[in-house]
Amino acid sequence: MAFAGGKVILFGEHAVVHQRPALAAGIALGVEAAATEADADRLTADPWGVDLAPGEGEGEAADLARAFAVALSLYPEDRPRLHVHAEVGLPGGAGLGCSAALGVAIIHALDDAMGIEREPEARGDVSLAWEKVFHGNPSGVDNMMAAVGGIAVYRRGEPLDPIRARRALPLVIAHSGESSSTKEMVSMVTRQYEREPERVGELFDAIETLVGNAKLAIQDGDLKAVGQLMDMNQALLSGLMLSTEKLERLCKVAREAGAWGAKLTGAGGGGCAIALCDSAEAAKEVEAALAPHASFTAITETRSRGRAQ
Ligand code: MEV
Repeated sequence: MAFAGGKVILFGEHAVVHQRPALAAGIALGVEAAATEADADRLTADPWGVDLAPGEGEGEAADLARAFAVALSLYPEDRPRLHVHAEVGLPGGAGLGCSAALGVAIIHALDDAMGIEREPEARGDVSLAWEKVFHGNPSGVDNMMAAVGGIAVYRRGEPLDPIRARRALPLVIAHSGESSSTKEMVSMVTRQYEREPERVGELFDAIETLVGNAKLAIQDGDLKAVGQLMDMNQALLSGLMLSTEKLERLCKVAREAGAWGAKLTGAGGGGCAIALCDSAEAAKEVEAALAPHASFTAITETRSRGRAQ
């Protein structure tokens, strides 16, 4: 079974589309996939009940079918026909990188079936073609984090910069129950940038500064400072009209329950908030406070990847 993880963006969503860095972390929730020889190419995915052929489908399934065709086109014409089955273990439309994790897991499964070896970063790179089907201008952070994991700073077109965290980052993820489209949110922010280049450019620059400071705070194990920086990032994201009443409530509840800081994660306009806690025990308390306000909660202990230690 090939596995690819979801991700949380700790700092820098949207700014990363516009050439600023983002700081992201892989999470344990993700997608498993396996490919077996078959009479014809086919993709099944549970618990979604998806069963489709490349390029064929309607509505949301049409994007998936197109993305599957794009993934298959990465391989030689004379390859065997394959049935890929995926088990999706994280919510979609939630800002947790579900579509990227699905793409990376499928490409990993296809690689395995054809005896192709690829470094995780190379797999992240080729999976960008899959992400482009779902939103026209992906920065690449989701597919790179799905392929590589750990904690890292990502900037478009540059190699991933893994961060060595002195302490694990206990995070609570809480879904607002509102689903959002990354494509629409990215276009909305891009339109704001075109209309008001100075104001939005300054917001992106401020976010870039937060990313630099957060990297240092994570390396120092100063979780209180990381939390404060998350609160600042949340304020800047609200300035881009990416927050919602529900996301604001989740952040407030988390802070009142003892989190060091909280913010939306991913595209915004719905989806998930994340809260940074001091310890696994504190995370349990914060999760209990968030549960009545959220459609889904999870605790994830984000750590540096082995090679960055
Ligand atoms: C989505 O997880 C993150 C965004 O910055 C889009 C992207 O980077 O492609 C909103």
